[in-house]
Amino acid sequence: MQQRIPPATSISGSITLPGDKSISHRYGMISSIASGISRIHNYSTGADCHSTLGCMRSLGVEIEVDGTEILIHGRGLDGLRTPSTDLDAGNSGSTIRMLTGILAAQPFSSRIFGDESLSRRPMQRIIKPLAEMGACIRAREDRFPPLEITGRSLRPIEYALPVASAQVKTCVLFAGLFAEGETVVIEPVKSRDHTELALREFGADLTSERGRIRLAGRPRLEGRELTVPSDISSAAFFLVAALLVPGSRLSIRGVGLNPTRSALLDFLTGMGARINVPRLECVNGELIGEIVVEHAPLKGGIIDGALTAAVIDEVPVLAVLGAATEDGITVRDAAELRVKETDRIATIVENLRRLGVAAEELPDGLIVPGKQKFRAATFDSFGDHRIAMAFAVAALRGDGESTIDGAEAASISFPEFWNTLRSIAG
Ligand code: S3P
Repeated sequence: MQQRIPPATSISGSITLPGDKSISHRYGMISSIASGISRIHNYSTGADCHSTLGCMRSLGVEIEVDGTEILIHGRGLDGLRTPSTDLDAGNSGSTIRMLTGILAAQPFSSRIFGDESLSRRPMQRIIKPLAEMGACIRAREDRFPPLEITGRSLRPIEYALPVASAQVKTCVLFAGLFAEGETVVIEPVKSRDHTELALREFGADLTSERGRIRLAGRPRLEGRELTVPSDISSAAFFLVAALLVPGSRLSIRGVGLNPTRSALLDFLTGMGARINVPRLECVNGELIGEIVVEHAPLKGGIIDGALTAAVIDEVPVLAVLGAATEDGITVRDAAELRVKETDRIATIVENLRRLGVAAEELPDGLIVPGKQKFRAATFDSFGDHRIAMAFAVAALRGDGESTIDGAEAASISFPEFWNTLRSIAG
C-alpha cells in the first residue's frame, strides 16, 4: 500500500493515540496466567499486540475483544493448555521473547514462529538465561525462530543481563513466576519497567533496587481492571511533526509518561523544544499525562549511553528531526537498531538519502548534520512500522508531495496513524 503525503503548513489540534504496545503485551500475557477476569481498556490496536492475544487464545485462554476493550478470562498459573497449532508471533519480537519465558515452564511442548523479519531476529539472548533455568529450547541455527520449546519445571536464577533489554528481562521474570524460589535479574542500564509495575499490580511480590529486580516465584496473580496509557513511542511521531513544521501547536492526551520512556521529552526540551505536561496522574502504577508541544527552533544533540536505551524506538523519527536542527543529531551505542524489525541504521540512512539529507552511518549509530533541506521523495518502509511513520513525518517538510511505499507496515503498532496524521496536518 502507498500513502501520499503533501507538505504541511502547520500541525495543530488535540489527539488521542492507541494504547501503549509494550504495556498491552504485558497486560495481555499476565492477565492470561492470572486467576479470574481482567478487563483492559485502551488495549493497543496494533497487529503485534493482537499476535499476543492470538497466541494466548491458542493456549486455551478465552479472550473477548470489543474494539480496544479486552476481557481476558485468566486461567491461573497452571491453567494454560497444550496448543493444537504452532503459535504465530507475526512480526512481534515482544510476543516471541516474552511468551517463551512462559512457554518454557509449561508441562507441554510448543512451537512458536514469526514472519520473515522476525525469523531473522536473534533469540540467543533469551535462550541462554532460560537454559540456565533448566529450559529446553531448540532454535533454527541455534539462534533464530521458529523456537521449539519442551516445557519443563524451571529453577530460579540470578541473571545479569549482558545488554539492556526489557524483552529479555521480562522473559526471565515471566519464567521466574513459575519457578520455586527467588529469581533475580540485574540490569546494566535501567530499561523500561512496565513488567515490574504490572506484576506488582497483579499481586506479585517483586522489588527493584539499584538495578536488582527480585521476584518471588509461584505468586497468586489476580485478574483486575486496567487502563493502558497511550503510546509515547507513537506520540513521538506527532511531537516531531509539530517541532518540524513552523506555526504548529498540538496537544496529545493520556500519554504514558513512565520515567523509563519519557527521557524523549527531556531530550527534546534540552534542544529547545517547547513541551508542557499540564496534567499528570498515576493509573495502575503508570504515569499518564497530556503533552502540549509547540514549534520552536532546535539546537541539536547527542544520543548515547543510557539515553540511547531509553529512546531506542524513537531513533528513526529523531534522525529525521536532526536534519532540521541547528547542529544535527548524533546517535551512538545503538548497535541494537541493527536487529530490530529492519536494520534500522541502514533503512534510516537510505531514506534520509532519498530525502536529500546527508547522513553518516556508524557501526553503532549515525550522524545527521543539521540545517538541511528536505525534498519530496518516494520512501520505502522496508516493512518496518517505525520507518514508515518516521518518513511520513519527514514528508511534511518536503518541497512537494512524497510517497511512502509499504505504508501498511504502520499497522504493526498504529493502524490509525495515517488518519490521525491527516487530521492534524494543515
Ligand atoms: C520493548 C523493548 C525494546 C523495544 C521494543 C519493545 C518491550 O526492545 O525496542 O520495541 O516492550 O520490552 P529490547 O528489549 O530488545 O531492547
